[in-house]
Amino acid sequence: MHTLMIDDQEKLYMAADILRAGGLVAVPTETVYGLCANALDEHAVSNIYKAKGRPSDNPLIIHIADLEMLQPLVAHIPDSASLLMEHFWPGPLTLIFESTSLVPLSVRGGLSTVAIRFPSHPTMQDLIRMTGLPLAAPSANTSGKPSPTNAKRVFEDLNGKIDAIVDGGLSTVGVESTIVDLTSGTPTILRPGGITQDMLLEVLDTIIMDPALLSVDATTKPKAPGMKYTHYAPNAEVMIYKGDDEKVVEAINAALLQDKAHNIYSGVLCDDETKSLFHSDFIISLGSRHTPCEIAMHLFEALRTFDDLKVQKVYALSFSTEGVGSAIMNRLEKSAGHHIIYV
Ligand code: TXA
Ligand code: MG
Repeated sequence: MHTLMIDDQEKLYMAADILRAGGLVAVPTETVYGLCANALDEHAVSNIYKAKGRPSDNPLIIHIADLEMLQPLVAHIPDSASLLMEHFWPGPLTLIFESTSLVPLSVRGGLSTVAIRFPSHPTMQDLIRMTGLPLAAPSANTSGKPSPTNAKRVFEDLNGKIDAIVDGGLSTVGVESTIVDLTSGTPTILRPGGITQDMLLEVLDTIIMDPALLSVDATTKPKAPGMKYTHYAPNAEVMIYKGDDEKVVEAINAALLQDKAHNIYSGVLCDDETKSLFHSDFIISLGSRHTPCEIAMHLFEALRTFDDLKVQKVYALSFSTEGVGSAIMNRLEKSAGHHIIYV
């Protein structure tokens, strides 16, 4: 299959035509690039799973660009959902609803619920409106790899496997949407993201984190099926160092020295405040620790850059879990397979 690159917004109608005909198109959103198909077309949806190599029990998020598109997809809209929609849509927030039978079971991974998001990215919104269709879209990466925040990374993973890629520049949030479940009593965050728990608490009286997100062992089953899989993993082995700055820098430098002696290429993932303190040829700073949004925006691209550089081991700082930091550390810990070194 030839993958068409669409880098001119004037040609967005081509992407709309492909989607209406049951094809697959990667599209920028404010969080990460999504791999879109008509959510109501079972065959098109099955091709998403094939192109990504995604397990079929991992459900997809449906994207809408108009509140009227919600009604036919969901059985019931709780008051808490209306409040969240009013405050955070369009934006990086996904809500779980009881589904209607209109939504194919394959989109929902066989569940009775459905995940819906109203993205703020103008290109994604335009495309949904042009097609008039709800679009199912997981992140546009090969399953297990870091999510793509630009068109080049989508091309690397999916060239020849999908019909087209719309190039709309960088995704600025950089981590996937926050997922909130409103179908089971207390509102629960199933995946941390750009909309933080504190932001949600300004609107709702209570909201808890899915206990599986907080447990260090893997015994508690996460409620978002996708959260149980290995994720965001570059080819390099990632290790996270936790402790005070001085000790972390010392421990990482010692490890770097050892690697050099064994001809192992190793790199450091850090912030602007510490980047000059490491002895390595492969140092990537995600930005200042005082601007966590910048750190979130650069995280996935940095993990992929280490692969470009053929780095075998990555030593990462532990970033603050304040605000969007809980999403940053959730993704980083997964990319490290929860390999954390306390110093
Ligand atoms: O920011 C985003 O959400 C991006 C962009 C493209 O919109 N999309 C994205 O999709 O991250 P994906 O497929 O990579 O992640 C979807 C997550 C998975 O962890 C999946 O298990 C969960 O949403 N999910 C989907 N439907 C669900 C449901 N009914 N109940 C619980 N979790 C659900
Ligand atoms: Mg994903």
